[in-house]
Amino acid sequence: MRVLVIGSGAREHALLLALRRDPEVTELAVAPGNAGTAIVADQYDVDITSGDAVVKLAQRIGADLVVVGPEVPLVLGVADAVRSAGIACFGPTKDAARIEGSKSFAKDVMAAAGVRTATSEIVDNPANLDAALDRFGPAGGDPSWVVKDDGLAAGKGVVVTADRDAARAHAASLLDSGHPVLLESFLDGPEVSLFCVVDGETVVPLLPAQDFKRVGDDDTGPNTGGMGAYAPLPWLPADTVAAIVDDIVKPVAAELVRRGSSFSGLLYAGLALTSRGPAVVEFNCRFGDPETQAVLALLDSPIGRLLHAAATGQLAEQAPLQWREGAAVTVVLAAENYPGRPRVGDVITGSEADGVLHAGTTRRDDGAIVSSGGRVLSVVGTAADLVAARDAAYALIKSIRLPGSHFRSDIGLAAAEGRVSV
Ligand code: GLY
Repeated sequence: MRVLVIGSGAREHALLLALRRDPEVTELAVAPGNAGTAIVADQYDVDITSGDAVVKLAQRIGADLVVVGPEVPLVLGVADAVRSAGIACFGPTKDAARIEGSKSFAKDVMAAAGVRTATSEIVDNPANLDAALDRFGPAGGDPSWVVKDDGLAAGKGVVVTADRDAARAHAASLLDSGHPVLLESFLDGPEVSLFCVVDGETVVPLLPAQDFKRVGDDDTGPNTGGMGAYAPLPWLPADTVAAIVDDIVKPVAAELVRRGSSFSGLLYAGLALTSRGPAVVEFNCRFGDPETQAVLALLDSPIGRLLHAAATGQLAEQAPLQWREGAAVTVVLAAENYPGRPRVGDVITGSEADGVLHAGTTRRDDGAIVSSGGRVLSVVGTAADLVAARDAAYALIKSIRLPGSHFRSDIGLAAAEGRVSV
């Protein structure tokens, strides 16, 4: 099977490495990729937001399967174009990708499916902002305001704060740039990322994971695209994944089918385990980054076959997934100033070791690998337990040199110390 992966992050690097372990996958290609993915796949520089460009590339290389990693091409309809050209595609249609692309659409689907989520209100008129802020946050009985961009914002459109001025400033700047704002009630409790391979009403969950969105240790500082993750979750009660699948993911998948927006691809449920049970923070229409790097490191089943089955309507016939024992921890190395405008162009050393997954990297003409984005790379440590997996990940990240870079030192720490409970 020839597989073309679309994207350029550490998530796509992890997908490529997992695909390479599948004996049915004979050839790998990636577009546009990065300095790390170029080592494992043929790399093509095409505009991945253009359905035409992706279809032409898939036809040129004879791809049997296209796997679309990031949300932007999915929301723009790239998977629709690939399917229309008769090529199997792992990734939802533009219509179904609205579960991530429009938070108001997602809220509507969840309400119809009877799924618990935060109460919310869309504000699109600045004149209504102050009154709406008074219904949320401490003014409305919550510890914090949750202010989100209604559309895509790479994880950085969310501000959670107990400071009304900060909440108001974020909402006002979104409205100023023409983006409707979603105000939400605050969902308390540990967060879980549950990735499910979905085709219509068939739902196959992967291992649960937890990611760390704030830039600083102890969840301080602004939100990022994700600074680290671990899987599985030793503190999660054994029946929770099945309950999330039955009570949340299956009803949402069924509601999308009912609306004629059937989902095929990876449905990512971001949840908070509140005192009243699991509640949805958000749905995403693709694999999450950096959780994918940890989850796929533990997958033993052939992923090419799994993704191809979902893309061709045969997911229900697949054998149950097999997982390696143990734990995996991902830690992200970020460029100076990330999540603000990152410093780029610095030479990285030590990034070609096993377990290093590239994201914002590029190879310079002289052969050096240099930084080219905010999240520069991820390291993955796998071991028999979470403590040892953390040790492996941190030993690896400390062996990499990138001037001005930073990483969180507490990924998976609370869970490793038994300090997370539901
Ligand atoms: N881990 C957060 C995301 O992928 O959106």
